[in-house]
Amino acid sequence: MIACMVGASLSAHAQTQGPDAALADGWRAVRVADCARCHGKDHEGLAAPSIVGFARTQSRERFIAAILDGNPQMGMPAYRGNPLIENHIDDIYRYFAARADGSLAAGAMPGRE
Ligand code: HEC
Repeated sequence: MIACMVGASLSAHAQTQGPDAALADGWRAVRVADCARCHGKDHEGLAAPSIVGFARTQSRERFIAAILDGNPQMGMPAYRGNPLIENHIDDIYRYFAARADGSLAAGAMPGRE
C-alpha cells in the first residue's frame, strides 16, 4: 500500500528481506488494524496504554497473549481468529520490540532509512 506508493523506484531499500521484512509486515498489520485508534499516534498511549512501553517491560509470550486474548472488559479486543493479526503476531512483536529497544524510531517505516 504505502510501500507501493513510496517505493516506485527500485532502490536497494525498496526490497525488504530478512529481519526488515518481518518488521515491515508487523508495521503494516498494526496500521491496517488501526491499533493507533485507541493506543494513540505511534502507539505510545492515548485512551489505551503504550504498546511500546508494554513491549519494553513484558515477555514475548505475555505480549502475544495480551493481543490474542485481549481484555474485552477493559476495552482491548481479542484478536484471536483475526488472520491479519494472528498470521503476523510474531512480526508485530518484533516491530514493537524494535520500537522499545530504540532500533526503530517512531513513525519510521521499517526497511527504509
Ligand atoms: C478499541 C480500542 C483498542 C484497539 C483497537 C486496540 N486496543 Fe490494545 N488495548 C486497549 C485497551 C483499553 C487496553 C488496556 C486493557 C487493560 O486495561 O487491561 C489495551 C491493551 C493492550 C495491550 C496490553 C498493554 C497493557 O499495558 O496492558 C497490548 C499489547 C495491546 N493492547 C496491543 C494492541 C494491538 C497490537 C492492537 C492492534 C492490533 C490493539 N491493541 C488494538 C484498547 C484497544
